[in-house]
Parts: sequence; C-alpha cells; structure tokens
Amino acid sequence: MKTGGAAQSLPFSGRKRSLIGDARKEREGGSPAPGPSRCTDNLVFEEKDGKVTMSILFALSDEKNTRLSKVTKVFETFQSRIRHMESRPSRRSRAAEDLEFFVRCEVHRSDADVLINSLRRVAEDVRAVPEERGSSCVYFSPAPWFPRKIGDLDKCNHLITKYDPDLDQDHPGYSDPEYRKRRSVISELAFSYTHGEPLPRVDYTAEEVSTWREVYRTLRSIYPTHACRQYLENLVELERHCGYGEDSIPQLADISAFLRERTGFQLRPVAGLLSARDFLSSLAFRVFQCTQYIRHSSTPMHSPEPDCCHELLGHVPMLADKEFAQFSQEIGLASLGASDEDIEKLSTLYWFTVEFGLCKQDGSVKAYGAGLLSSYGELMYALSDEPEYKPFDPEECAIQPYQDQTYQPVYFVSESFEDAKLKLRQYSSTIRKAFSVRYDPFTCTMEVLDEPSKIQSALSQMREDLKILHGALGKLA
Ligand SMILES: [Fe+2]
Repeated sequence: MKTGGAAQSLPFSGRKRSLIGDARKEREGGSPAPGPSRCTDNLVFEEKDGKVTMSILFALSDEKNTRLSKVTKVFETFQSRIRHMESRPSRRSRAAEDLEFFVRCEVHRSDADVLINSLRRVAEDVRAVPEERGSSCVYFSPAPWFPRKIGDLDKCNHLITKYDPDLDQDHPGYSDPEYRKRRSVISELAFSYTHGEPLPRVDYTAEEVSTWREVYRTLRSIYPTHACRQYLENLVELERHCGYGEDSIPQLADISAFLRERTGFQLRPVAGLLSARDFLSSLAFRVFQCTQYIRHSSTPMHSPEPDCCHELLGHVPMLADKEFAQFSQEIGLASLGASDEDIEKLSTLYWFTVEFGLCKQDGSVKAYGAGLLSSYGELMYALSDEPEYKPFDPEECAIQPYQDQTYQPVYFVSESFEDAKLKLRQYSSTIRKAFSVRYDPFTCTMEVLDEPSKIQSALSQMREDLKILHGALGKLA
C-alpha cells in the first residue's frame, strides 16, 4: 500500500479530545506512556517553522488491524501531515495478515515525542528510525523500485488517466464513438507489446493521414525559421530514410531502427500518458515511450494529450542528435530510485527542456522542445517578444511553476546541449540517493554502484577504454 497523505483526509471521529488530553498529560509529566519519554531525539530532521519530518515504523497484528483507523486518528490529532506511507507483511510474524507500516510525516517539534508515545497505545513495535534510513529513501526497500534491465520496462506501464477521450468531456474525441473505438484498438497494440517483439505497425486510415498531412504541412513551413539546427538536419534525414512527409504517417518500427543507428535510442509503443517515474526510467535505457494513435480530425492543430504528431514531429528528430540523446538519458538516470519529490522536480526539468526548451544558436534563439515543435501556436509565441526568457539553470528550472492549459509564461534558454548536460549532471549529483547507477549498453542493464568492488570493476573497464585512446594518440604522434 502506498499513500500520498490520504490519512489526513479521513473524516475525523472519535476520541480527539481525550487523545489530546492523553498526549498533553504525558508531555506535562503525567502518567507515562510506554517507552522512553524522549524517543525522537536525533531522529527528526528538516526542521522548519517549528515543524520536523520524522520516519516511524510500527506493526499491527491480525487482531489489531482494525486499529489502523485509530493510528490515523493519532496523526490527525497532532495535525501531522503524512508525506509517505507503506505497508508490507510482517517480517516478525508468521501470520500473513500481520502488517508492518512505515510512515514519513511532518509534525510540530514539541509534539514529536508524544506522537510516538500515543502511537504506542494503539500499535506495536513503534519506533522512530534514523534520518539516513528514512529521508533519502523508502524504508522498506533501499529505494523505490526501478527497472534493472531493459526488459523490466514491460512493468513501467502505469498510465495517468488525464485527457482520456473515454473520460474527459473536453477531449475532442469524447463524443465520437468511432474515434474512441479506433483509439482503443491502437492502444491495445501497446498494452499487449512486450520488449523484444517487433514494433506493431498501424494501417492508418485516409482520415488519419489527412489529419497528419495538415499538421505536417503547417509545422514544416515554420521549422526553417523556428527550429534549431539539429532538428532541421535530422528531419531531412527522417524524410529521406523513414517515410516522413505529408502523405503517410511514419511507422515506429522504421523510426526506431533509424534512431538505434544514430544514437542508440529506440521506441516502444505506449497506450497513453505514463506516470512520470515510469516515463523517465525508460529514458535511462535510451527507450522512448511513444503513442501511435493520432489526434481527433476536428482539431488537427491541437491535442490535449501526446499523440503520434507530437511524438514523431516533436520528439523523434531531436532523439537522433547525440548530445540531446545523452541529455535525455541523463534525466532518466537521475530519476532511478529517486524520491517522489525529486521525481517531481526532474519532471519539471524535463518539461522546461525536452518539452519546451529553447537554445541559443548563431546569435538567435531557436526551439528544441517537442511541445513547441509540435504546436504551431506555441512555437510562434515562444519565439515572439511576449514570453519571459531565463538562462537554463536546473535548480531554478526544477521548481518553476508550469502551465499545461495554455502557453508557458517562462521559457529556459540553454547555451548548448553540452552546457545543459553538464549543468544537469551537476544538479543530479545533488539528488539524495544511497547509490549511483551506470548503464551498460552491451547488456542493456543498469549497474547499481553501491559497493566499492563494483566501482573498482567499472574503473577497470574505463582504464581499458583509456588504453585504446592512448594507443590511438600514439599512432597519430
Ligand atoms: Fe512529449
């Protein structure tokens, strides 16, 4: 079980007054609760405005599972904000129904001890856990799960139900049953896909090609003046090798083969908008999750969700650039095992770079973000005098409020992809994780560098590579 603070939204009923009374009595030296009175010394952190964050473990045995509601009332009573909550089968009990819980919460500093003592009245084995176990990672596992090999991406398929034509009345396809049916047929191709299979080909209808044609023709006309050099060069290559043009919608299989030769990136089909964690983790393996359905024909120049126009015209040409591909993978690598808070920051970074990024080129500003390069209106707006420009700074970018209902008020301008990559790498090094990762392109696996022997092994491999370079220099000399 995972919650993002659901407990504090539970309607309160019961013994609030008496519980507070109990707690105050303990704090004022009345009848002692079980355990030490100063049980959280050195176990709280991130003190701000008198509030601290603390991580707590407790257990509920089978017959006491009904006490979970009482546990949540304790947190509510102390106005504690639950930031993270997990449960798992108890490791100490043989009964499968017995559970252990991990909770990370904010509470007023003066209430920390009485909160723990109050929990001991309704749960078992209650204890605060040290910062290094509770702050940078989830207690029950060293870090949130992440794919270790490329085949694990089959598990990274958590869709976000947002802008869905079956559910969202504002979606242009909501009142068109034929569109919804077609969309679900194409989505099914993605649902049933597993890594290693041939990428599914879609036999697009004349209406779908007509929509694509209008988008392609309109955007293609402004690319020469608005898109960055790398985008333009790669678009020409895609027109030459992958069937890009007005008359047909290119197939993922052809594009993926092209990208693999250029930058090692490959595509896999996806049925809709993925969770940020799943989407970013794919980038770590140089895999781009790509929708295959197309927007509704009534709105060829607008789609509330990613579709093949956005993916193939916005993202793909840039994924054929080596520097940009490296930049994209760096965001993905930073996301592996990161906390929910850091995933949100990395998603924002992704938003203002890969989706809406601008860069300096030959004395002017050009677009490289897919959200811009697949939207005529925003591309024109972004390169007008209206929006505010800021130099790309990951720290600032990661917390910049974004806009998904209209154009961005602010765009970040990179000096170059190389410069952006170095800044991103510096930012990533500040993300709190107990390990680093290194991608092995030969086996398509993620190596977790959490032991000296693994780092030593990686260094040995690098030394071998350096010998090759040294030998090459010697021959040149
Ligand atoms: Fe996108």
